[in-house]
Amino acid sequence: MSFVEYSELIQEGDVVIIFLGHESMMPVKVQSGAQTQTRYGVIRHSSDLIGQRFGSKVTCSKGGWVYVLHPTPELWTVNLPHRTQILYTTDIANITLMLELKPGSVVCESGTGSGSLSHAILRTIAPTGHLHTVEFHAQRSEKAMEEFKEHKVSHLVTVRNQDVCKEGFGVTGVADAVFLDIPSPWEAVPHAKRAMKHKGGRLCSFSPCIEQVQRTCEALSDHGFEEICTLEVLLRVHDVRSVTLSLPDFGPEEGSTDSTQKEEVPNTGIASVVCKTATPPREMAGHTGYLTFATKPRD
Ligand SMILES: C[S@@+](CC[C@H](N)C(=O)[O-])C[C@H]1O[C@@H](n2cnc3c(N)ncnc32)[C@H](O)[C@@H]1O
Repeated sequence: MSFVEYSELIQEGDVVIIFLGHESMMPVKVQSGAQTQTRYGVIRHSSDLIGQRFGSKVTCSKGGWVYVLHPTPELWTVNLPHRTQILYTTDIANITLMLELKPGSVVCESGTGSGSLSHAILRTIAPTGHLHTVEFHAQRSEKAMEEFKEHKVSHLVTVRNQDVCKEGFGVTGVADAVFLDIPSPWEAVPHAKRAMKHKGGRLCSFSPCIEQVQRTCEALSDHGFEEICTLEVLLRVHDVRSVTLSLPDFGPEEGSTDSTQKEEVPNTGIASVVCKTATPPREMAGHTGYLTFATKPRD
């Protein structure tokens, strides 16, 4: 199993996502002899997981069942152990598109944080690209390295434990794209420029506060970046529900062949029809942050 290639069968050492429901999943490292407790009972790794197909329905010891899913960056983002604030799929989707990432791209990122964005970048740039990710918190950078090894993507990534604002990304003239998710991105702008290819490339900076955005935009402009633009991405997930609509009474219709299933609005005597409809959310997930994009022109 690897986060950048699909495998058919679950093997010892793989990470699987145990799916108990849309709001209830957990990542599990498969080890022969090990057991995982769920609310539906125990899952025995040797008999229930190893050798089974990814996507199988597995019956637990109390008779309930779960699905065992192949890990993907999307599933990892909602299941990973949080060591920091992380980026979610709504922002990640925009970042990968607007940075023009593709197989073979070379990307610089800081900070690594919990590796949520890193996993999505790695799948997009595989099998020939490379990610240089910089994290100044020693334990976070070690943990990220461990996870990249466990997820079989370590050949695609170099983790550096250093301060990006002081020491930069550790590479010069190689990056097609740079991504910043740090408190003072303006201090990293000169380093980002140095890391990027002479022919130019794209940069993105994520900041929760507009004052950070203003300082970053000024630094980008001072360093010759062009096409500077900031956006905020908000997600509206629509629910599908059955609703009862009352029907207007136009009197009896002669020879009507209308076959719509009509009912009565309870306790009113008014004819009604039940239909499926999509409803927008009453409340929306709030602000996460602003994404500032810019282009570095050819030197
Ligand atoms: C919000 S987290 C990044 C989350 C990450 N984008 C993700 O999706 O999981 C910010 C990280 O940047 C690191 N950081 C902050 N300033 C830094 C700097 N100057 N150099 C390197 N890392 C830095 C922090 O230690 C933290 O782990």
